[in-house]
Amino acid sequence: MNEQRHKIETVAHSNIALIKYWGKEKGRDQIPLNPSVSFTLSKCYTTVDASITEKKGDTPTISLQFEGQKHPAFEHKLVRYFQKISEYLPEINHYDVAISSRNSFPHSSGIASSASAFAAFSQLIASMASRTLTPQEISHHARLGSGSACRSTQNGWSLWGAHHHFKEASNLHAIPYPKAIHPNFSRIKDSILIIDSGEKTISSTQGHRLLENHPFTKNRIRCAKENLTRLSEDLESGAWDTFGKMIETEALMLHAMMMSSNPSYILMKPDTLRVIEEVRSLRSAHALSLFFTLDAGANVHLIYPHHDEKKIKPLVEDLGKFCGEKKIIHNEIIT
Ligand code: DP6
Repeated sequence: MNEQRHKIETVAHSNIALIKYWGKEKGRDQIPLNPSVSFTLSKCYTTVDASITEKKGDTPTISLQFEGQKHPAFEHKLVRYFQKISEYLPEINHYDVAISSRNSFPHSSGIASSASAFAAFSQLIASMASRTLTPQEISHHARLGSGSACRSTQNGWSLWGAHHHFKEASNLHAIPYPKAIHPNFSRIKDSILIIDSGEKTISSTQGHRLLENHPFTKNRIRCAKENLTRLSEDLESGAWDTFGKMIETEALMLHAMMMSSNPSYILMKPDTLRVIEEVRSLRSAHALSLFFTLDAGANVHLIYPHHDEKKIKPLVEDLGKFCGEKKIIHNEIIT
């Protein structure tokens, strides 16, 4: 950077995991206990606008406006994030950075925004670096903000975490999903039914920690790895039926881990279960490829093929009657 002042804009899309990252290695920086697979969502993204000024000394000033307002808690998190990344890129300490960040999805829509936010912050930091960073480094730096963010620094299908069937996979950063994906999965849809937009009772970061003394952790790690192997076979062969059942198993296993944590907690709401039952009965009544997954929250992600959109989308709209706020966000994979 040779001028005094720069304006930089970065955009990163959120992602939905189908094999879930749940649990981190104790005492290490965001090293996942198991590998995860996700895809990025076209309608859910964070835009970061930054004004960057060179300064003397090496204590940066970071300020943040979130959705047009000061947000001291987010700003504090961001300052700590910049400090962390400056261990890798000390040159970022020589700037004052005024950031304004906003999400495409409504605030408090119950959609985790840390993935898209930290992916966008990592891209911003990459543009402040004195050399060109590799995609792996950008993903690595996003991971240090929020684990799932490392899967959002690139679009499309993403794999994060070591697995014996994927020699390229790493715990340190995500990679583009490295095996074949059948055209049956191209333009895959994710319509999110907003069941609850409130703040979660237990954050994901706290939830990950509860796996340290959880009686099922070892089995969960083994299952996640096996589930990834099976999912990769379905992705390759185009088998929607077994793929769909697997993603539902993963979602329910994630919530089973939460419910059986100590302390136990439940993020699903009565309407979450209503939608799940409805999806299953619609599926058997109409022989549909309509499946669900869940994030760490009450909202239901409905996953279905692009080639069945005409048939399925009206049914999804009808399921809107179960969401308190009648809010549905229709995404497809962004590639
Ligand atoms: C259930 O990435 O939000 O969404 O690393 O502590 O920031 P931190 O947690 P986070 O956890 C996401 C968990 C999940 C599953 C997933 O996205 O893989």
